[in-house]
Amino acid sequence: MFAVHLVSFFFTKLKEDPTKKVDRFLHAMRLHDDQLSDISARFQAEMKKGLSEESNAAASVRMLPTHVRSTPDGSEKGQFLALDLGGSKFKVLQVKVREGMGIRKGGVEMDEKIYSIPKELRNGRGTELFDHVAESLKDFLLEKNISLEKKHPLAFTFSFPCEQSALNQGSLISWSKNYRARGLKGKDVVQVLRESIDRTGGMDIEVLAMVNDTVATMMTCGFDDQNCEVGLIIGTGTNACYMEELRHVDLVEGDEGRMCVNTEWGGFGDDGALSDYITEFDRDVDAASNNPGKQIFEKMISGMYLGELVRLVVLKMAKVGKLFDGRVSDALRIKGKISTAHVAAMEEYKTGLTNTRNILEELDLTPSEDDCIAVQHISTIVSFRSSNLVAAGLAAILTQIKKNRNQRDLRITVGVDGTVYKTHPQYPKRLHKVVRRLLPECHVRFVLSESGSSKGAALVTAVAQRLASRRHQVDETLSSFRLSQEQLKLVKARMRAGLEAGLKTKGHSAIKMLPSFVYHTPDGTEHGKYLALDLGGTNFRAMLVNFRKGLQQNTRLYHKIYTIPLEIMQGTGEELFDHLAQCVSDFLDYMGMKNARLPAGFTFSFPCEQTAIDTGTLVSWTKGFKATDCEGHDVVNMLREAIKRRNDFELDIAAVVNDTVGTMMSCAYEDPQCEIGMIAGTGTNVCYMEEVKNIEKTEQKKEKTDEDKGTPDEEQDKADAEMLKMCINTEWGGLGDDGSLDDIITPYDTEVDQNSVNPGKQRFEKLTSGMYLGEVVRHVLLDLTRGSLLFRGHVTEALKTRDIFQTKYLSQIESDRLALLQIRSILQQLGLEGNCDDSIIVKEVCGAVSRRAAQLCGAGMAAVVDKIRENRGLDHLDITVGVDGALYKLHPHFSGILKETAKVMAPQCNVTFLPSEEGSGKGAALITAVVRKMQEM
Ligand code: BG6
Ligand code: BG6
Ligand code: GLC
Ligand code: GLC
Repeated sequence: MFAVHLVSFFFTKLKEDPTKKVDRFLHAMRLHDDQLSDISARFQAEMKKGLSEESNAAASVRMLPTHVRSTPDGSEKGQFLALDLGGSKFKVLQVKVREGMGIRKGGVEMDEKIYSIPKELRNGRGTELFDHVAESLKDFLLEKNISLEKKHPLAFTFSFPCEQSALNQGSLISWSKNYRARGLKGKDVVQVLRESIDRTGGMDIEVLAMVNDTVATMMTCGFDDQNCEVGLIIGTGTNACYMEELRHVDLVEGDEGRMCVNTEWGGFGDDGALSDYITEFDRDVDAASNNPGKQIFEKMISGMYLGELVRLVVLKMAKVGKLFDGRVSDALRIKGKISTAHVAAMEEYKTGLTNTRNILEELDLTPSEDDCIAVQHISTIVSFRSSNLVAAGLAAILTQIKKNRNQRDLRITVGVDGTVYKTHPQYPKRLHKVVRRLLPECHVRFVLSESGSSKGAALVTAVAQRLASRRHQVDETLSSFRLSQEQLKLVKARMRAGLEAGLKTKGHSAIKMLPSFVYHTPDGTEHGKYLALDLGGTNFRAMLVNFRKGLQQNTRLYHKIYTIPLEIMQGTGEELFDHLAQCVSDFLDYMGMKNARLPAGFTFSFPCEQTAIDTGTLVSWTKGFKATDCEGHDVVNMLREAIKRRNDFELDIAAVVNDTVGTMMSCAYEDPQCEIGMIAGTGTNVCYMEEVKNIEKTEQKKEKTDEDKGTPDEEQDKADAEMLKMCINTEWGGLGDDGSLDDIITPYDTEVDQNSVNPGKQRFEKLTSGMYLGEVVRHVLLDLTRGSLLFRGHVTEALKTRDIFQTKYLSQIESDRLALLQIRSILQQLGLEGNCDDSIIVKEVCGAVSRRAAQLCGAGMAAVVDKIRENRGLDHLDITVGVDGALYKLHPHFSGILKETAKVMAPQCNVTFLPSEEGSGKGAALITAVVRKMQEM
């Protein structure tokens, strides 16, 4: 017994086990689970780097957003052409997707043809490579009798790293694997493909989506298995993609939902992260490759390199005398002589050893039995390391998904494709086993993509097609809000004509051009205490202003805001003015000035026909007011009467002014160049200093007053000299009331007008001001929803509710600093439940409507400033506009577009916009001060 042992001991000593020898030689390639966990952790760190905005550019694992937001749900349908470029075979296909219902998925039929891509093309000029692709496509259409006349949507699987900003765009970051065509890096390959298709001619192709092979594989497998959220390729190259939470993808706006991320994990290690796992053979493979220093992980794993790794190990072992008795053949020295197919054959279950012998003999070697066992074992170690590394990468991805879901045990499916996985006899089993060992708490299912990636690419394209058609219809709807320069010039001309017509007495003008009897802007000498009352929108403001001579900065203001309930806005005139008097009474109590009999200015922001500074007959209500028995009455009188009725305080109302006039005065106090006042708020309006000689209607009125009073000529001349200009309240909101804007008015505007309290009136205001923009937006949203382009076609009560979109919401929604998720939550507050895509569309609608408003106001302003310039016979005018209103002050883009349009439309004027700090009340107080000063003189 002892003797037998001794013999066998000697035998082993003399004749070493060939696998042990290889094990020792390749110990660096044999990775334990600890090492795999370590690699997995390092990969997770790289994923994080790639996802973050700051570190993405420098990350070796690029984590590219793919713009694929969902896995298949069965609603995809259509007929597509497909191109599949980048794997071991280039294919052209036709894919037909039949829609299914709910969880019952539809069916997919495919017809394909493989075309070769010669090496010269892979390494030649990029355009030639793509021309070949386009020509193959045309050949396919001809051969399969597919109509050349019809437009065909096309899905493009392109298995290289691309930076995508949309499904149908992608700039090539770099080539990998066996491709290195020139002139395409940084170019949009979809565009390059389109150009090649055009050059080839005779086809009508719309390239709708481009996807990486990993993504297409995930989608292919996702068609049959809802849990498939990872795509894996172990073929010529290797890579993986997975569904990531959008909130982790810094490079894409929006926080809601998920997006597929193409990890491009082949680049793991390019920054040295794997240097302690790299062997001399890996270094040699890398050095002799198309892309040295790049795709380090891929070169340890994928089909393009496995055979070569085996060859280099065999060669080295032979050279050091550990194989073939130290003999090396010429063939063994040639790159590429051992392929991945050889590796697979050597590891075949029963025939592996015979295959190994045959392969080695083909290389002009004469292997012994032990040599064959050793070489087979080399193969095993190399391919085992490959599957181990894939398992480590996959474990990192699955861990990330598990964290995202906050689940203890994850149930997930990985869709896999690629020649290595498909043809290597042991690979899948080994991979599955190690993944399960590394992540025992995950239930991972692996599904082989039987039908290649084109089925998945077609599914992505079907979604893209639906989105493209939705985009097209949304664009079409919004196009009616886009105004050309020509149209804006017309608006300017119409505004100008309206201004001129309004200044004349004869004939009716849509623009009223109301004289304000304000002849001067302030000169800084105003002083004293004044009360200002400000009725303009939903609020009423009472204010005490104390001016100190020459001390503009030191003006003191005290104010209180009172809301006006809707029933009072729309009740009787007496009720409205009693309410105002009550607010004033309260304010005087609050200030302890009940007995002061202060001089007061009244800002009344509605059109008033004035014959003097302290009288104003309301022409018509605007902006939603409709208190009865006010139109045709003097509002100053009405206020005086209301105060009399109360009989608890007295007030000396010295002036009534429009808010535009108040704003102009308030700003002119700071800037003497301010001769225009503008409101872009609930309503819209402009006033400006006009030459008295141009105001035909006041001339007549003035003559009449002179006659009555019988003023001596001398005094009259003096007064005239001081009254060369008068501020005119244009009431420009009425432009279009005579039909002059009908060519730009959309059906949505018409609806808003029809549903307003003053149909047919204030047409310009209804296109441009805060009270109406939200309503215009709502009508567009309603229309888009009814057309199933928004909110999944669901018309809710909220959407049918008038005035839900106030100006403040428009301003918030359009803010560029707001993420889509925040827009979604604003919409939610308003009762509108939508997803990210809905939020994008809502933002676009708001943008189109507010942009048009700002442009129209800009064109209107251009008419006003050009008129002033011409009045003065100037080639160039510098002028300031005092401006107020929530739309101007709070909307993120309105003021910018307004200024830009005014600049373009009135190139001879330099217009400065000065926001009013204190509202128009201060201006009304200033006017009162001026009036009192004049009276004292
Ligand atoms: C195929 C895909 O099924 O798998 C290709 O259609 C992909 O686009 C390929 O690149 C990966 O495998 P290989 O081995 O052909 O590179
Ligand atoms: C304020 C004025 O500053 O601006 C009001 O005092 C005016 O009289 C208002 O109507 C316009 O802004 P909005 O946005 O409130 O209509
Ligand atoms: C390479 C490519 C990658 C592709 C993979 C598998 O790694 O860079 O985009 O997915 O090969 O084909
Ligand atoms: C409305 C009023 C006008 C006012 C403007 C801004 O257009 O008619 O008088 O100036 O709103 O408040």
